[in-house]
Amino acid sequence: MKPGGKPDPYTARAHKEGFAARSVYKLEEIDRRCKLLRPGLHVLDLGAAPGSWTQWMCSRVGPKGRIVAVDLTPLGVTVPAFVQAVELDVLQAPLESFGALGPFDLLVSDMAPHTTGVRDADAALSAELVDRAMAIAAHALKPGGNFVAKIFQGSDFEDVRKRLRERFESVKVMKPEASRKESVEIFLVGLGHRAPVLPAP
Ligand SMILES: C[S@@+](CC[C@H](N)C(=O)[O-])C[C@H]1O[C@@H](n2cnc3c(N)ncnc32)[C@H](O)[C@@H]1O
Repeated sequence: MKPGGKPDPYTARAHKEGFAARSVYKLEEIDRRCKLLRPGLHVLDLGAAPGSWTQWMCSRVGPKGRIVAVDLTPLGVTVPAFVQAVELDVLQAPLESFGALGPFDLLVSDMAPHTTGVRDADAALSAELVDRAMAIAAHALKPGGNFVAKIFQGSDFEDVRKRLRERFESVKVMKPEASRKESVEIFLVGLGHRAPVLPAP
């Protein structure tokens, strides 16, 4: 909501178009620029609630696709049968459990920590969530698959980007128009997952 009580244009548009959150337009721009989604893809959606990214991806992957939508809390929208909603803590669930749900062509993470208001602490928590998303990708993302994750810019950012570069053929950093200018959030896009080297069993 903008000062003065009026919703910003993205919030108003999301409401009008039936999306659960304005965040949908961030993914829409990333998808438009990076060509990530197409019919039939299998997608892992981490931090899916209330569900606007899931809604958008449903329209792009269609009924021949599959979406596993994971969050601590339930989705706030009705989803078609090709979406499996799973309530869990991504930091606690065993990595192998994500492998059992996959493999996926695309992993997206819009996860955000409960913020403390201390910028460095919030950025460290956000980096921890992105690291976890990368570990999940090693278990559940197909070779050649793609990856999108929101991160709060902070002192860990360059290290996270470096680790992502080791795991993907190319890495882009994007700040979509719909992301508020004053927000520290930014999106990392990894294209072309290199075959992961997993620890021996
Ligand atoms: C910005 S919201 C996601 C918005 C969503 N992409 C949409 O378009 O509606 C961030 C989400 O991350 C989730 N989240 C944060 N930490 C998590 C964790 N450890 N495990 C699972 N979900 C988590 C929160 O519960 C919250 O719903």
